[in-house]
Amino acid sequence: MTYQASVKQVEKVEPVFPSYVKNKKLREWVAGIAALTQPETIYWCDGSQEEYDRLCAEMVKAGSMVKLNEAKRPNSYLALSDPSDVARVEDRTFICSVHKHDAGITNNWVTPAEMKATLQPLFEGSMRGRTMYVVPFSMGPLGSPISHIGVELSDSPYVAVNMRIMTRMGKAVLDSLGEEGEFVQCLHSVGAPLEPGQKDVPWPCNKEKYIVHFPEENAIWSYGSGYGGNALLGKKCFALRIASSMGRDEGWLAEHMLILGVESPEGEKTYVAAAFPSACGKTNFAMLIPPKAFNGWKVTTVGDDIAWIKPGPDGRLYAINPEAGFFGVAPGTSAKSNPNALATLNANCIFTNVALTPDGDVWWEDLTDTPPAELTDWRGQAWTPDCGRVAAHPNSRFTAPASQCPSIDPAWEDPKGVPISAFIFGGRRSTAVPLVVQATNWTHGVYLGATMGSETTAAAAGAQGQVRRDPMAMLPFCGYNMADYFDHWLEVGHTLFNPPRIFCVNWFRKDSNGKFMWPGFGDNMRILKWILDRTHGKTGGVESPLGWMPSYDDIYWEGLEGFSRERYNEMMSVERGAWIKELLSHEELFVQLYDRLPKEFVLQRELLLASLWRSPERWHLPA
Ligand code: OXD
Ligand code: MN
Repeated sequence: MTYQASVKQVEKVEPVFPSYVKNKKLREWVAGIAALTQPETIYWCDGSQEEYDRLCAEMVKAGSMVKLNEAKRPNSYLALSDPSDVARVEDRTFICSVHKHDAGITNNWVTPAEMKATLQPLFEGSMRGRTMYVVPFSMGPLGSPISHIGVELSDSPYVAVNMRIMTRMGKAVLDSLGEEGEFVQCLHSVGAPLEPGQKDVPWPCNKEKYIVHFPEENAIWSYGSGYGGNALLGKKCFALRIASSMGRDEGWLAEHMLILGVESPEGEKTYVAAAFPSACGKTNFAMLIPPKAFNGWKVTTVGDDIAWIKPGPDGRLYAINPEAGFFGVAPGTSAKSNPNALATLNANCIFTNVALTPDGDVWWEDLTDTPPAELTDWRGQAWTPDCGRVAAHPNSRFTAPASQCPSIDPAWEDPKGVPISAFIFGGRRSTAVPLVVQATNWTHGVYLGATMGSETTAAAAGAQGQVRRDPMAMLPFCGYNMADYFDHWLEVGHTLFNPPRIFCVNWFRKDSNGKFMWPGFGDNMRILKWILDRTHGKTGGVESPLGWMPSYDDIYWEGLEGFSRERYNEMMSVERGAWIKELLSHEELFVQLYDRLPKEFVLQRELLLASLWRSPERWHLPA
């Protein structure tokens, strides 16, 4: 991209390049952005521990972070955001492809030229009085054939230190980029220039926000927000939106999926990738600890949020976790829900928008059964258990090195990736959707993933608790036309030899009293075991109107008291009325995608409808 020097520009910032910066495109780009945004200084991140400690210390001094109690939470920090900057802003997120059709109906779209004309004046001088951090990073292990490189230019030190945890960041990336290497351009400004002498605020941001992707140029411009997914551009912006579009062009998949490994007592290792919408317990599932009765079984974590999946030479799919850290939702993380995550958070973490204890540690809802008697809440105000407010923001986060996770898989940094045997799709649905179903074939599985719905949560700004269609949990993250995305999935499956089996799960079905029917957490292992057994052809299933299901006797129940066959069968029941509503809502999605929707989807919907009509009004597994 080129930038015209503006008439309003008062001074030209001439970057001084460290001698190791050889990449010509990078030099030109940094010079252009410096001239546009006019930072006071430019700082090249080397990724060292010394640098991380120094930047954090500077932020503590500036009042942007608090250092936590060194004895309780070594080398860890708390940042409190501006109360208006707490979540991804989907309505301010744009896919600016040249043609509207290539962004599709599910994305906000503006032409690249028009968007640049809007953004250029916003970025002009937007870094005045601040440092521009040059953050080179690799998504995926450096040198892996599945990895890709990005460089983020940001005026936020919070971004620089978080990127060091979330990616492989620093000088080694530039060495690997060489003179001619390609990288994704990630430009970020909080949009809060400082006039000479103006005092900074702890969390600078701008009311006006733009999270913009140019998929044809592999570029991202993010303006106005300092918050996670809007500002740590390696994550949702690059690793999902831009990468999904790269994957379409190059024959691979960038997915909103965790990756986990399961080792049986006999030593058989199987990897699965699973897509759940934001804040549906993905991190908990990725770090699952099997119940005691699963003696000898081990679940290991490759990733908790994003998977890059490429066909290997043997015709199987291989996945890497492009990230190096976890940016997880804190509330709800506890010794009961996720002991592995909790152990990951013991040191070297950055917390955002959680509460501070009087002795300098962190707290969030559900961390302990009894809340501390007093806290400083996420807005920096005094908090007591009876004050009627939550202490931590519902979308408060931890940024933690993946390497600290006790369940991290030995192959999590394997440049080849890990072979995927099954895909699991899941949403948060209090009604209609059974605990688990296996698709009868790839096309059916892609259909089930594509039509998945979920009740909305706090990870994105907006209303909560309504069901929205969230195809493959990618609705806010697909960088191109959703219908083309479905087509790409169908296409990829057909290039594979023995493609992964596809399953749908719902841990969140409720009974008529509004109580969750499934215990969840570690007991999800019971369902996971059936899934693995199916992929290895070791167990049976029952043909239901929706696909294959395990009968009560196909599930390993040892150690789970009081979960009766009747309750299980209730969770697995299929009501025609509810499913006709589902299919109508699938149709709503399809109508919007009409011109490019794969034909298979229309036929698959018809097949589902037919099997619902030929089944009892309320279909049950055998009693
Ligand atoms: C996330 C999200 O932050 O999905 O992972 O919103
Ligand atoms: Mn996510």
